Amino acid sequence: MRDFKEVAHLDEVPDGATKQVAVDGELIGLFRDGDDVYAIGDVCTHQEAYLTEGEWEPDELEVECPLHGSRFDVETGSVRILPATKPARSYQVRVEGNSISVGPRK
Ligand code: FES
Repeated sequence: MRDFKEVAHLDEVPDGATKQVAVDGELIGLFRDGDDVYAIGDVCTHQEAYLTEGEWEPDELEVECPLHGSRFDVETGSVRILPATKPARSYQVRVEGNSISVGPRK
């Protein structure tokens, strides 16, 4: 993804909630903490599970995979807890008014 694309409206993602969106064939998970939204690849890098269906912990900026419990940093995509070893893709996010846009990978 080279440019920012609007993927959702802020009021579709309540504070503390998550949302899966598809952009250019990629499934991306949005994670909201107050006025901030983070975006990482939504398919766990371990096996097939959606991180947006896992436990999102805004205080830690961390999501736990619902299948085997790997934890990912939603800001960087890095793995904090195994069994996943490969980081998730992480994307730049812009929030302007009610609009959430996702841009190039960080
Ligand atoms: S599928 Fe996510 S930790 Fe195994």
